[in-house]
Formats: sequence, structure tokens, C-alpha cells
Amino acid sequence: MINVALDGPSGAGKSTIAKAVAKRFEFIYIDTGAMFRSLALKCIEQGIDIKANPAAVEAMLQNTVLDIGRDDGQQLMFLDGKNVTSLIRTPEVSKAASDIAVIPAVRQWLLETEREFAAKYDCIMDGRDIGTSVLPNADVKVFLTASAEARAKRRLAELVEKGVEVSFDEVLAEMKYRDKQDSEREVSPLRKADDAIEADTTLLTLEESIALVCDIIRKVID
Ligand code: DC
Repeated sequence: MINVALDGPSGAGKSTIAKAVAKRFEFIYIDTGAMFRSLALKCIEQGIDIKANPAAVEAMLQNTVLDIGRDDGQQLMFLDGKNVTSLIRTPEVSKAASDIAVIPAVRQWLLETEREFAAKYDCIMDGRDIGTSVLPNADVKVFLTASAEARAKRRLAELVEKGVEVSFDEVLAEMKYRDKQDSEREVSPLRKADDAIEADTTLLTLEESIALVCDIIRKVID
């Protein structure tokens, strides 16, 4: 199996780039952020205060079933049998996903699922800790970065396209909140693996970013 780990901060373009790369190399694309988002959505729906009550979050995991489906290369997320693919993309869920990702029991619960997928498929898996913790032996590790402003601008355009009403300042503030929490948490923080190749896309177009990541992968697996 060929496993590519793609890590980096929120809004660096990981999912868009991973989807395109998966298509070119015929890999399965696995979006691990969507798994954290789905668990966060369940907490919101059940009125569980993630920060104040991590024990309730942990208890919730006992009766939670996450499934992944595929639709034309896109990953579909099923939470307890319900398709939540579009419900997990709101700014409220983004923040809650970063909050829930701090809880060690949540990370441990997801680790098994993530590794099972990687063992079964040639895949590109995106997240925060794939190269450092989930797949330390991945064949290729890419760490994708871009300035916070560039990332907020891209994320805003994505949200506007989906009809979510939000301002640039709100998106930038949420991004900085998540950058800080994702990098400073104790368990598996966002960090470039020592053997990862860094790709800074601040000044690159999407096509250029895709080409750069494809080149990095080709050099290793060809
Ligand atoms: O990639 P994303 O924006 O969908 O991720 C949502 C949140 O989930 C992110 O703020 C941090 C967390 N996350 C994580 O801690 N580890 C991962 N492998 C993926 C996401």
C-alpha cells in the first residue's frame, strides 16, 4: 500500500489538494478532520459542553457509529447512520472540532479507524497529526502551509460559495483560534514531522499547489 500523509493548519488547502492528488494517482482520499467534525456535531446536537465536560464527550463515544462513504471521489460522512457531510462545514462545527480534538480519548477512538483505512487502501490522508502520530511510517509526508491571511481568504470564498454568511474578520479570528489550539494541545499537536517535506502555498495558485504536491509524491514513489 502507498500511504501519503498530508498535514497542515486549517485552510491551507489540504482537502482540495488531496482530492486532486487522489484523482491523479488513483488513491483514496481520507479526510480525518471530517471525523472530528462529526463527533463535534453530535455534541452540539446533544447539548454537550465539550470544554466543560470532556467526560460526557467520552461517554458519548460508547454509543456512536461513524461511517465513511464515497461519491465520485468525495468522502461522505455518516454519523449514527445519518449523512452529515454538509452539516459539518459550519464555523460553529469548525470551532467545536478543534475543541474536541484536544481530548485524548477522542483521538484514541479515531486512531484505529484511521489506521484501518491506511492498511486497506493506497491513500492520501489529510489532518494535523498524520505524519507524526497516525501514520509515522507513511511513504510520503507533506506539510502544507500558507499565511493566516491567505488561508482565511480562501476559506471565506469557500464558505460564501456554500451560502454561509460570515465576514473575513470572523474567519480570520476562527482560524487563529484553531491554529493556536491545534498547535499547542498536549496530545498529537499540529507539527511538521521531521521527515515531512514542507510546501508553502501562500503565493501559489491552486493549480500550482497541486502540481507541487504531485511532484513531491512522484519523486518518492516513482
Ligand atoms: O481539517 P479540518 O479543518 O476539517 O479539521 C477540523 C479540526 O479537527 C481541526 O481544527 C483540528 C482537528 N483535527 C485534528 O486534531 N487532527 C486531525 N488529524 C484532523 C483534524
